This record gives sequence, structure tokens and C-alpha cells, in this order.
Amino acid sequence: MSLSISPDTRPALGPDTGPNTCSGTGASSTRPAGTPEPPPTPSAGDTRSPLTPSTLRTVVRELAERPEEWIHHVRLSTEERWYRRLAADEDHEVWLISWLPGQSTGFHDHGGSRGAFTVALGELEELSLGGPDQGLLIRRIPAGTARAFGPEYVHDVRNTAVGPAVTLHAYSPPLSSMAHYDLRAGGLVRTSEEGPEQW
Ligand SMILES: [Fe+2]
Repeated sequence: MSLSISPDTRPALGPDTGPNTCSGTGASSTRPAGTPEPPPTPSAGDTRSPLTPSTLRTVVRELAERPEEWIHHVRLSTEERWYRRLAADEDHEVWLISWLPGQSTGFHDHGGSRGAFTVALGELEELSLGGPDQGLLIRRIPAGTARAFGPEYVHDVRNTAVGPAVTLHAYSPPLSSMAHYDLRAGGLVRTSEEGPEQW
């Protein structure tokens, strides 16, 4: 199992994440200098199951409680959300994202990856489509709150507060693509797709 992470940024993991294991994510954000290489591609014979959303939520929650491992990486960008991948291996990856007021992802999926994120600093808002009787759901996500989701989940995350926010994200398997959607009268309409080379 390979690992692309600098030693001081490697978060501790739960016991079911493997011996060498380690956030979006950023859809079209400013790419910081020193952005790590794309995640490893699982071999054809790799039959391991992805980590569950619950496990990923534990990963980001526990990492949020250790700010000494990520706070010094935080940057703010007035152009777009800023992000940095903290860790990655074959099972999952962890991202750090900062959000200035008004910055948002737009509706997007996670390319079939499961995921979780927590607001470590500040406050965000999440939009998603509920069932036929629910319509558009809007959730306030204050600091200390975590969200976890399955492989089909589509959401729009935004900073509607007056101050910056910092979030930690985990995905399993590591993100391989992300599709973007427009919310129209008939529902979500897929508009574009991007891959790791654009992150
Ligand atoms: Fe997302």
C-alpha cells in the first residue's frame, strides 16, 4: 500500500483503514503550489471494499480534533475555494478546504466515491434534493458538525456566513471524477465532468 503524504500532515485513522492509510471537494479551485500527485489507481485485482461513510465521518471528526496536523496548511483565496490534499492511499484520501464568504461548490457528485466532511472552523450551508415530497433541502452546518454520504450523493456546499470556514473531507475510494449539475425546474441536469488532472 503506497502513501503520498508529508509526515506532519498524516492524520491518524481508525483500525479498519489499513496499516498505511491516511476532501469536495474542490471542483474548480485555485491549485496551490506543491499540490500532491493524483491518487494511485487501484490495480485490476484490487477487490477491497471502500470505507463506509460512517468510518469516513470518524476520520474527519478525529482529524478536526487535532488542528496541529492541518491548521498550518490553511490558506484563503479570494478567487475560489482553496484546497489541499493532506493524505491519500488506495483506500481513501483526505482534503483540507477553505471557504471565504460567498464561495461554493455548485451541485456535484463524487464520481461514485463515498464521503464525509466536517466543518472545523466557521459555518457552511448544504443544499441537496430530498424525496418527491421534500424538494430542496437546506442544511446549516456549523463548526463541529459532520456529514457523511454514499456513492450516489449530490450536493451543493456554500459559505453563506460572514466569515471564512475550514473543512476536512474524506473520500473512499479516492476521488476519480466529479460531475457538475445545474438545478432546473425538472431537477438536476448534468452539465460537465472533471478528473484529477483538473484539481
Ligand atoms: Fe461534495
